[in-house]
Parts: sequence; C-alpha cells; structure tokens
Amino acid sequence: MTASQAPVRARAHAPAVRDPAPHDAPPAPPPPRGPLSHAVTAALESGPPTGDPARLPGTGPVPGTAATASADPYGDDLHLALHTCYELHYRGFAGVDPDWEWDPALLRLRAALETAFLAALRRDTAPGPDGSADGGAGVDGALRELLVEPVDSTGVSHHLRDHAEPWQLREHAAMRSVYHLKEADPHAWVIPRLRGRAKTALVAVENDEFGGGRPEMIHQGLYAGLLDDLGLDPSYGAYVDAAPAQMLATVNMMSLFGLHRSLRGALVGHFAAAEITTAPSARRMAQAMERLGAGPRALLFYTEHIEADAVHEQVLRHDVIGPLLADEPGLAADVALGVRATGLLEDRLGAHLLDRWRAGRPALRRPFPDAPPDAPPDAPAAGRDGEPKEEGP
Ligand SMILES: [Fe+2]
Ligand SMILES: [Fe+2]
Repeated sequence: MTASQAPVRARAHAPAVRDPAPHDAPPAPPPPRGPLSHAVTAALESGPPTGDPARLPGTGPVPGTAATASADPYGDDLHLALHTCYELHYRGFAGVDPDWEWDPALLRLRAALETAFLAALRRDTAPGPDGSADGGAGVDGALRELLVEPVDSTGVSHHLRDHAEPWQLREHAAMRSVYHLKEADPHAWVIPRLRGRAKTALVAVENDEFGGGRPEMIHQGLYAGLLDDLGLDPSYGAYVDAAPAQMLATVNMMSLFGLHRSLRGALVGHFAAAEITTAPSARRMAQAMERLGAGPRALLFYTEHIEADAVHEQVLRHDVIGPLLADEPGLAADVALGVRATGLLEDRLGAHLLDRWRAGRPALRRPFPDAPPDAPPDAPAAGRDGEPKEEGP
C-alpha cells in the first residue's frame, strides 16, 4: 500500500483511544531552533525566575533589539521564542515555574521580539504607493480584499477537498492544532479593552466558541476530537515542535494583538477577518473530510463552523467593528492592520503548504511516517505566488 492509498485514519502518532482528560495537561517546553528560542527555553528550564531584569539564567544578558532586529521576523527562531514566551500566559509548561510569566528579563526579550515582528507586519501590510491597497483604503477596503476568491480556486482547502492525500490532510490538521486547541483564547484578552455594544457582541461570539454553556461543544474540544478521529495526538501543544514558523506566526499575531491594549483595534480586525474567511473554507474542509473517509468528530468540527461563522462574520462586522469605530474612530488603521496581517500570514502559510505538497514534500518539520521523505531544501518547489487567503475557523 502506498502513502496515497493509506486510509486517513491510519494511526500516525497516537494510540487508538485516549482518555480525554490528559490531553489538556501542559506540554514540555519545545526544543529551541536558534539562539533566541534557546535563550527562552534555557531560562525556563533553569528553575524559578531570579527577577534580575538584565540577565536570563542559562544565557546571560537579555538579547536586545540588536539581536532581534538581525533575526528573520518571520523565521523559526524568532517565532518559536515568541510562541514560548506567550505560552506562559496560556497553559504554561510542565515543570516550569508559572512565575516566569511576569519575569522582567523575559518580558524585555518578549518586547524585543514583538517589536521586530510588528514592524514587519506594519511594513508588509502598508497601503501601496497610491495610498490604497488592493481593495481600497481603510477598513472597508481591507475587508473587501478578503472576499476576493480566485477564479482558479487554488487555496489550501480547495487542494484538500479535491486532491489531497491522507497524509496531507493529517499534516494540515496537526499544524492547525497549534491554534485550534486554544481556539478563541487569544481573542478573550481583548474583552476588558472594549465597552458597550462592541463588548456585548464580541462576548456573544466568544460564548459560541466556548460552547455556549455546553462543555462538550467547546471548539477547542471539538478540535481534539478531530485530531483523535484522524489518528493524531490531541494533546495540547503536541505539534508545536513539528509546526513551521509560518504556522507559529499566525498564532503569535493573535497573542500579540490580544495582549496589548494598544493593539485592540488590530485584534478586532483579525477576529473579523478570521470569521469572514472561515465559513466557505469550513464547507470545503467538511467535504475534504468526507472524501477521505474521516470520522464523525472530524466532520463535526467543520460542519459546526459553516453556519456559526457565517453568523459570527455579520456580528463582527456590524456589531463589533461598527460600534468600536463609532466610539474610537482613531482605531480604523489598526483594524485594517489586523485584517491585512491575517491575510498576509495566511497567505504565507498557504504558500508553504502548497509549495511543499506540490513538490511531493512534507510540510511539517517532523513528517509523519507515511509522508514521503523530505527532499533537500534547495530542491525546486512547484508552488505559486498569490495563493488565496484562508483561515481556520
Ligand atoms: Fe470556532
Ligand atoms: Fe467563529
């Protein structure tokens, strides 16, 4: 049996049946990918924080803006370092003192990483020389750009629906787990930064994401069910080490926008962009799951999002962005930043996936056993530029 003939539910990593409880335990810190992520991991694994704002145990002086400015702002080292810093604000890590969350030295490093990443996002989403981007200036123009689906339908969900082999579907599911196992958590950071109608409406959407009072319907848990149905490991953080920088960057953007009150407009813009693009892609993903014979829980995650996100899109547009900008019109540029940054990073991730798959190469850093062996990094890739924007629900 070739890889392409293997059933989608072939057990790639995990045992067939898992107790649902252990998958929520905090993971171990991920192995570093360079000097910046090494500095973070070495500090976390050194013991309790020292409180010294100038030094990180295991490394020495805190790497400053000079070190982070010379790093690739979309690269593996910077994004794993940032992701590890942010994870302290979510579940934390097994064996790591939770007080690292507010250690001044680590926060200084995190700020330097954020400065480099945010500068790249602002630079690469700036309006064109004529003062407008593709869809026109401002929030409406940014949202219009999201609605342009290419005629030849070459996005990731199109590929998964029409052409993908089972290992590619599992790679996609594993990669997306870096976000979906904490789905909607980054957006909760913005709640205290809003007020009035915008707050009420955003909390209504978040309530749906968290199951609407039914723990069995929390979207994070539905995604764990999807992973289990596909024979993947539903443990929180299981695929962070396997995920490339392009995936980590999409989640880091949410954490960055959510954790800074000054970027509340960007978080709302991102949230709207995510909801707008997910209803059509969720439909294609449900079809992909059906074509490849995935189980009912894998299907449920996507069918649940088809109608829900069509409603969420309207709520975000009219009941969150509208009242927010009526209240604080100065946030319009940041709302547009959040919309366009989402498109930019989803394009980068989509291009990575499709380039690798079209070249017959795995997209994960740690390929599954039934994926083809990876080719040399300088092997020619067959991908195309300008893939459509797509976002997981
Ligand atoms: Fe959701
Ligand atoms: Fe949603």
